[in-house]
Amino acid sequence: MSTAPVVSNDDVMAALATVKDPELHRDIVSLGMVKDLRIEDGAVDLDLELTTPACPLKDVIEEDVKKVLQPLGIHEVRIDFGAKVRATTPGEGKQPVAGVSNIIAVASNKGGVGKSTVAANLAVSLARSGASVGLIDADITGPNIPTMFGIPAGVQAQQQGGLRPVERHGVQVVSIGFLLPRGTPVVWRGPMIGSAVRQLLHDVPWEGIDYLIIDLPPGTSDASMSLAQEAPVAGSVIVSTPQAVSLEDAMKAVSMFEKLDVPVFGMVENMSYFIAPDTGTKYDIFGSGGAEQAADELGIDFLGAIPIEPAVREGGDSGVPIVESHPDSESAKAFHTIAGQVAARISVLQRMGS
Ligand SMILES: Nc1ncnc2c1ncn2[C@@H]1O[C@H](COP(=O)(O)OP(=O)(O)O)[C@@H](O)[C@H]1O
Ligand SMILES: [Mg+2]
Repeated sequence: MSTAPVVSNDDVMAALATVKDPELHRDIVSLGMVKDLRIEDGAVDLDLELTTPACPLKDVIEEDVKKVLQPLGIHEVRIDFGAKVRATTPGEGKQPVAGVSNIIAVASNKGGVGKSTVAANLAVSLARSGASVGLIDADITGPNIPTMFGIPAGVQAQQQGGLRPVERHGVQVVSIGFLLPRGTPVVWRGPMIGSAVRQLLHDVPWEGIDYLIIDLPPGTSDASMSLAQEAPVAGSVIVSTPQAVSLEDAMKAVSMFEKLDVPVFGMVENMSYFIAPDTGTKYDIFGSGGAEQAADELGIDFLGAIPIEPAVREGGDSGVPIVESHPDSESAKAFHTIAGQVAARISVLQRMGS
């Protein structure tokens, strides 16, 4: 005979209604997150549906649920987390992208700050959390994403029917580089670049993509402008290095997005500090913290700092992003935190819009 107290569904639901989603600031019951509940012999099995599989605060929710159920005499709580990513509602004049729920633009005003590296690692990190992820290489005149994903240049040059995503490291990747042998210069001008970006969005058969990351070329270029004007971009991530000059540039990117009504999720400081591979010692080479201060001045969020680690570059060159090759490295952990924050930001925006 069981000695566990009899606890009803209503008792448990009432207790769960006191648990708040830490980001959405509403309780998990009224948010409709509790999908299934089974109580047996003082143990509770619970299906919780999150707004993103990359939820950074899963553990907090789990702890809180256990805490509120304990006084009811429940000695065991098993939570099965699921996720349903909702789609960005396209603003006026924006054309939704078929098969894509949310678009995230990765931008900066300067080349070489690590935009493509950030885009690649955010994409792989979100995919590793269980999201369905696409990545567009919108750096039409200097596509680097094929190399970073180990996809040979020109793989689809002979193919009929246009560009199609290639799946690598769990990400659906598309790049103009799939059509061109390595090193072929693209000498297109503004309007053509704009239309190429449009085609990467609308003419590629995307399917069931939760997050589509766009690696933009540096600057407030044609590609960035047409994207921000026409596509329902959920928000942008600005990449900067700590040096002041690059910060000034990053500010230009921020104001471009603000003018075009694209939310800025925040700023990432890349190459923030150096970790010596032999000793693990941390060195501030460019004077760490510059981007955080600038983000503060601009009134945007600071999403995190990524160290300079030789393995990051090696990952880029060898076609295996560091979050995949060294998931326990400092950089991979930083990328993962940033990815979770971006996903959470999208969930919050949607909750506000609905
Ligand atoms: N955190 C980092 N640590 C080490 N190398 C990095 C880091 N971020 C970027 N790199 C390297 O710097 C170079 C430029 O990065 P990339 O992502 O191509 O910049 P962008 O897209 O802004 O031009 C690449 O060789 C890349 O591997
Ligand atoms: Mg790049």
